[in-house]
Amino acid sequence: MLKSTNCGELSKSDVGASVTMAGWVHRRRDHGGLIFFDLRDRSGLVQVVFNADVSEETHRLASGVRSEYVVQVHGVVGARPQGLVNPNLTTGEIEVSADRLVILNSAETTPFAINDEGEVSDTVRLKYRYLDLRRLRMQRNIVLRHQVTAFIRNYLDQQGFIDIETPILLKSTPEGARDFVVPSRVQQGKFFALPQSPQQMKQLLMVAGFERYFQIARCFRDEDLRADRQPEFTQLDLEMSFVDSEDVREVIEALMIGLFGAVSDKRIQQAPFPIMSYQEAIDRYGSDKPDLRYGMELVDLTDLVADSEFGVFANTVAAGGQVKAICVSSAGSYSRKKIDELTDHARSQGAKGLAWIKVEAEGVRSPIAKFLSENELQGIQSRCEAQQGDLILIVADQAMVVAETLGYLRVLLAGRLELAESDVLACAWVVDFPLLEWGEEAGRWHAMHHPFTSARDEDWDKLESDPASALAKAYDLVCNGMEIGGGSIRIHDSSHQQMMFSALDISPAEAQDQFGHLLEAFQYGAPPHGGIALGLDRITAILADESSIREVIAFPKTASATDLLLNSPSTLDQKQLNDLHITVVERKQMT
Ligand code: AMO
Ligand code: AMP
Repeated sequence: MLKSTNCGELSKSDVGASVTMAGWVHRRRDHGGLIFFDLRDRSGLVQVVFNADVSEETHRLASGVRSEYVVQVHGVVGARPQGLVNPNLTTGEIEVSADRLVILNSAETTPFAINDEGEVSDTVRLKYRYLDLRRLRMQRNIVLRHQVTAFIRNYLDQQGFIDIETPILLKSTPEGARDFVVPSRVQQGKFFALPQSPQQMKQLLMVAGFERYFQIARCFRDEDLRADRQPEFTQLDLEMSFVDSEDVREVIEALMIGLFGAVSDKRIQQAPFPIMSYQEAIDRYGSDKPDLRYGMELVDLTDLVADSEFGVFANTVAAGGQVKAICVSSAGSYSRKKIDELTDHARSQGAKGLAWIKVEAEGVRSPIAKFLSENELQGIQSRCEAQQGDLILIVADQAMVVAETLGYLRVLLAGRLELAESDVLACAWVVDFPLLEWGEEAGRWHAMHHPFTSARDEDWDKLESDPASALAKAYDLVCNGMEIGGGSIRIHDSSHQQMMFSALDISPAEAQDQFGHLLEAFQYGAPPHGGIALGLDRITAILADESSIREVIAFPKTASATDLLLNSPSTLDQKQLNDLHITVVERKQMT
């Protein structure tokens, strides 16, 4: 090796040692006779001193070195003089007095400073991702990600899970997101699809008798991107035979608790993780991925205002809707302008308006106070447990609009009021999801999770009579307001699978074409099975205190699914296109 020691590992106990180090020049200060480098490698920084009195030649060489040069330094470790100790640096008590310097490589001035964690535009960061990755924040995030996967692999191996790879060149299936497709050269006009998840393959592995499978699997979904979504992302994918929901949850919960303890100092808010039904989550938090680090729960006022003089409330209730509120602690001082802005947010979520009540020392202030009776006003305040200085926000609408609007405002306001502690992990299981959801556009039922998810045993009969009320053996794991995993117990016999397909309006011929392999496999002794997939990027982002999963992926894509470093996607040359039997047609300008 070109080095005998790592920079960041030197300490007072090494004083007097002769060391050889190699790394990047993080920072350089020239004081004439003395030149200082902070030398950086993956392990951290150490201060190196070049003294003309120690070696004139080395000192001269050091004076020509610039930031990000790659150098090898030989020297002797010494204690820093009193008063010059740097408590912010793990190696702050020592410095290395250099007697030899080798410049291994020079460096152009980098597009942004590596030694400064200041803001750099995302475009520049992603174009020069290899430089961005040199910075401390990204080094930490990527190492953390490694620790997460290393822990998971080791833990699941000990629990008897087998790591099995499944194909990346797979088959396109309907449902779910759009596929990324790969044209076949040898079979003209045919295409592979990249897996949106290894769902079908892992179920086939259960039929194959492996009983406990896992894979840290890359998944590809051509969907609109957000902070918590990338077109290619990573799942911890897992499947088990001879289990029920509780068994899968138990394995995952123990894994998560073990993982959190091993790689993070954050505190787990509650263990065992609370379990709540989908309906309860929607009712109390307006979301199926509630952030449980703070309260501000939705309060139901429907019965209180059913006969109100205020038409908006009474009419909504009469039409089968709901009136609900959140009480925003100490937001009573919000200006009219701020409340108007909240109203715009409410409208963006589909609400027709946002009613508000400020609780003040002199009484309440509200544009709707004049329409409400004293009883109604009192009832609303007491049900919301509103204190002086609080702001009550009320939405009247159909249940789903109320939940979405108040759920959205709850998260928005908690963020502004900094209600969520960042060093707490509030995990919960959300269970009893509806099996199906109505697709307004397509005019038919969709599987809420996927078409292989089993109904609860008692709910199979409802598939025809009352599809909306059938609940699934499905579970999501949520943490700090993010869905970090989802799974289910699967349908393992072809008769139930056929029932599901017919509920989804997938004809037997379509089912045969798309899923024939699975239906056939189920005829040869499929064990009862179930599993889950965890979003590895999301888990790592939470642990790294990052709000975007992009910050924990070495080479991520932009919001428009572009790789700015490689400049992809890119065009193909004509020969490649010919080989693939592809003709690119310019899309006609829409008129
Ligand atoms: P699901 O589609 O819920 O389930 O995905 C599982 C988890 O993967 C994460 N995730 C994503 N992370 C980043 N970017 C994305 N675009 C993205 N999409 C999903 C989420 C999510 O909870 N086969 C089933 C699992 C099963 O039933 O076993 C599946 O893929 O954290
Ligand atoms: P309007 O009668 O439309 O002037 O509304 C009176 C007040 O009620 C305003 O503060 C509106 O923002 C509010 N409001 C209107 N529609 C709703 C609704 N669906 N839910 C809650 N508040 C509403």
